[in-house]
Amino acid sequence: MKLPIFKLEDYLSEREFFCDIMFSGSDMESFLMQDIIKLANPDVLNIWNNLKLEYTLPLGNPLLLEELNKKYKLNSAFENICTFTGAEEAIYAALNTIIDKNDHVIVLTPCYQSLRDIPKQLCEISELKIKFENGKSFFDLSEVSSLIKSNTKLIIINFPHNPTGALISINELNSLIELSRKHGIYIFSDEVYRGLEHNKEDKLPYVASIYEKGISLGVMSKSYGMPGLRIGWLAMQDKKTLKNISNMKHYLSICNSAPSEILSLIALQNEDDINSRNLNILNKNLILLKHFFQEHKRIFEWFEPKGGCIAFPKLKLDLPIYDFCEKLRLKEGVVLLPGNIFDNNENHFRVGYGRLNMSEALIRLKRFLHSENLV
Ligand SMILES: Cc1ncc(COP(=O)(O)O)c(C=O)c1O
Repeated sequence: MKLPIFKLEDYLSEREFFCDIMFSGSDMESFLMQDIIKLANPDVLNIWNNLKLEYTLPLGNPLLLEELNKKYKLNSAFENICTFTGAEEAIYAALNTIIDKNDHVIVLTPCYQSLRDIPKQLCEISELKIKFENGKSFFDLSEVSSLIKSNTKLIIINFPHNPTGALISINELNSLIELSRKHGIYIFSDEVYRGLEHNKEDKLPYVASIYEKGISLGVMSKSYGMPGLRIGWLAMQDKKTLKNISNMKHYLSICNSAPSEILSLIALQNEDDINSRNLNILNKNLILLKHFFQEHKRIFEWFEPKGGCIAFPKLKLDLPIYDFCEKLRLKEGVVLLPGNIFDNNENHFRVGYGRLNMSEALIRLKRFLHSENLV
């Protein structure tokens, strides 16, 4: 399969590692490996200290699969869950396995590019676009039914949403499931930001746990703050489909990195502590961020995120956002992500608020606005 340039990864690979402050990261502040190991219970510490660097079970370390299934509560950790190298490999394997060329797929956009562009290379797709109104970004899911065709096989959703932080309600999710059930459609639910809802009542159930054709995607990267582990997973009730998807892993990574599996296991066993550390950073940053955008409301329009650690405000000035971001980077060493990377051409940009150095990013952004006479 020929794939187009991955705009986001391409843009960031040239900037993210060569800047002072990444102000657009979609993951939480990363953990030090030594701090994760300190959390290990004696049994797992023993496994870690005696770990052999051999191939691991293709589906994933059995202890890791069992730990994951405590979340989804599916019949079998070994038949309903498969781990992958990050969420990215899981997306590639699942979409390539499920989609045939005569199928039709509905994708909520803008989105992480592979969620739209892998299906687009394989079959016809329809996009349901996000709306921006009165300081809010949202999807009108009542429009999904008008997009369904007789050959619609799959609907791809992502909540909390990248890049806006939008969420849907449990009632909206249930209606989407009812509609999909009626038409025999799979739902691929990218849940990589789950756990970072700003109000915990907004946390949605795992789609894999409540829908027989639901597929949940999870990863250690975003809400956990451990992207360097490259451990992601798929959970679903449909064993046959999972078996077919896991077959594709044999052609890709074969198995995970053995140390990463154990570090993920330790992190998942200590999920509550990790989650409260992350929400603490996120909540403090969100206050600063909202204050900044309120103070500069003549220049920016703020759209309130409901979950995740990213938001998608808009530059109101008559200045292309791509150029604004480039200038900011060159002058202040701060990286923002222009909305054009998500094929949004309305001067939006993505900010990340999961990192400990975010307040310094705001100081530099403010200095930049003054030095450019924009305030
Ligand atoms: C919504 C979404 N899904 C999947 C991914 C891929 O995650 P990973 O880098 O852990 O493979 C990303 C990364 O930014 C993402 O934002």
